[in-house]
Amino acid sequence: MQNRHWNPLEQLSLDQLRRRTSQKWSAHSSDVLSLWVAEMDVPLAPAVTNALHHAVDIGDTGYASRHGYAEAVAGFASTRWDSPDLPITHTRVLPDVMAGIIEVLRASTEPGDSVIVTTPVYAPFFSYISHADRMIVEAPLTPTGRLDINSIGNTIARVQASGRWCVVQLCTPHNPTGTVHTRSELESLARVARDAGIRVLSDEIHGPLVLPGAPFIPYFTVANSENAIASTSASKG
Ligand SMILES: Cc1ncc(COP(=O)(O)O)c(C=O)c1O
Repeated sequence: MQNRHWNPLEQLSLDQLRRRTSQKWSAHSSDVLSLWVAEMDVPLAPAVTNALHHAVDIGDTGYASRHGYAEAVAGFASTRWDSPDLPITHTRVLPDVMAGIIEVLRASTEPGDSVIVTTPVYAPFFSYISHADRMIVEAPLTPTGRLDINSIGNTIARVQASGRWCVVQLCTPHNPTGTVHTRSELESLARVARDAGIRVLSDEIHGPLVLPGAPFIPYFTVANSENAIASTSASKG
């Protein structure tokens, strides 16, 4: 057990970080810090280094089998988030979160349809969504950074009145504000989406990283699985 004052952000020196070859630490000269990259300046968790060392030691570097990932997420979700059983048969393994979001967008909308995003939000949503020929429509967060359910509802109604289809692209916990949307906010969103007959795609990549007192609520626990598709990853946590 680490002692409770152990701070992972204080373990690595600048010299150690500069030895990294990642984009964050190598794209620019040494007097520039790429703070836009959501990459952790912490040592890897021992469980992760051990698993990677073991895989390399036995040459286990082939194509992933797709087995075991959903079960691992389900186990994590039930202990960390106290969430009911993750429907494993409804899951798919994808190379990364943005690839998953774009595939789900392609399956849920047609080119020219709209994707409602709650701005300010993770900037690459804009480039990926437009690259997939979908239109971005903004339903900004409230001044205190909460979901504006009325604005989302009105935006959906406006898009539908124009004869187009849409989905809502949620981000919870929200990047860049760090806000963790509450159960009641998510339930309200699920109600609005259900009434309008549209899907909510929920980017939950930061689900494991919340502050005490802000419990993360997986969106699938408040909506039916037809209308809720979440993307998650171990990469941030
Ligand atoms: C909210 C959010 N979604 C998606 C991603 C990208 O995830 P991936 O690299 O798995 O596509 C990031 C990375 O910072 C992110 O912050």
